[in-house]
Amino acid sequence: MKNLNIGMIGYGFMGKAHTNGYAQAPHFFPCEVKPVLKAVCARNAEKAQAFADTWGYESIETDWRELLKRDDIDAVDICVPNNLHKEISIAAAEAGKMILCEKPLAMNQAEGEEMCAAVEKANVRNMVWYNYRRVPAVTLAKQLIDEGRLGQIFHYRANFLQDWTINADVPQGGAATWRLDAEAAGSGVTGDLLAHCIDTALWLNGSIQDVSAVTETFVKERVHAETGKKTPVKIDDACTFHCHFKNGSLGLFESTRYARGHKALYTLEINGEHASIRWDLHDCHRLEYFDHADDSIVRGWRSIHVSDGDQPYMGNWWVPGLQIGYEHSFIHQVADFLKSVETGEDCHPNFRDALETQKVCDAVLDSAAQRCWKDV
Ligand SMILES: NC(=O)c1ccc[n+]([C@@H]2O[C@H](COP(=O)([O-])OP(=O)(O)OC[C@H]3O[C@@H](n4cnc5c(N)ncnc54)[C@H](O)[C@@H]3O)[C@@H](O)[C@H]2O)c1
Repeated sequence: MKNLNIGMIGYGFMGKAHTNGYAQAPHFFPCEVKPVLKAVCARNAEKAQAFADTWGYESIETDWRELLKRDDIDAVDICVPNNLHKEISIAAAEAGKMILCEKPLAMNQAEGEEMCAAVEKANVRNMVWYNYRRVPAVTLAKQLIDEGRLGQIFHYRANFLQDWTINADVPQGGAATWRLDAEAAGSGVTGDLLAHCIDTALWLNGSIQDVSAVTETFVKERVHAETGKKTPVKIDDACTFHCHFKNGSLGLFESTRYARGHKALYTLEINGEHASIRWDLHDCHRLEYFDHADDSIVRGWRSIHVSDGDQPYMGNWWVPGLQIGYEHSFIHQVADFLKSVETGEDCHPNFRDALETQKVCDAVLDSAAQRCWKDV
């Protein structure tokens, strides 16, 4: 058994999701490599200590640079806003640490290129937390596509809909609303939400060739939480794009934080020559499947309850019929990362894979700004 000492930076939403992953993965996915919660890093010592006490970290740091200097840290987990990903990743690579970085990889493609160069030069293991690949129903979709059950793919459709920024009084910037501040987030729904849809799409359906997009910022000015002043909003509140995939299929993507009634509705649908599949984050343990080869009198959409032992990841969980949920995607990603350390193979998506998503995001934003098609 080999210990893998984790140093996690940031203890917010993802800090919890990842730490839960480190805690649970060894229980359900036996591996020669065992994560150890060595240190959590946050700027406020009191809050960092409280988090360490609750979640079982051995120590704290208040400056990520100090964390990177420590010899007892093997892997750095980056769970901070997007504008910090590049600086921390490059420094971590130079310090010879493995890196698990939250998505989107970077603020833009140029930053992503620098990050890829740094991890490849330092030859350090790297991974990006596009966790939806590891929802068992989505992994099953990948299996069905790779088995050729859909035949030629014609359409790929994905949405990621929320409604939490409709109120113009929601501020931008600061701890809770950095996602609305372009300086911290890079972009709005494109980098935050569509990046997930794009990563899954590239994985399931291959490369995207070109895109045509529209974006909108519905609330033009918001108070900045740090200055108290009303300043222009520079992120995209909503984005719709269509595209050509290299395999000849057409893609249609939409994301917004203004779809009243939707909290985190990530849906995808793929239509192929022989079959179609559909998935919905709100029912994340189900995969809808339509097979045209079925006898016509019983042909129809079936709703597969992904909970059986021969379905992806499920053999390591409960008994057939008992489902799992959102947090398990992170447990699976930790388990796969630990296994990759054991076997020496890459764990995908790595920085290079995530750069492809970044390229599509940049092309989408450029297309919307310039009102024209953009090659990826
Ligand atoms: N994979 C997913 O599904 C998913 C979901 C949510 C967020 N994310 C990504 O995870 C990252 C973090 O998002 P979140 O929702 O956890 O945000 P959050 O606001 O909940 O947490 C951010 C954390 O970063 C800390 N932080 C900020 N600046 C810091 C600094 N200089 N040094 C140390 N800590 C610092 C904050 O104190 C906080 O603990 C973002 O890149 C986001 O895009 C991914």
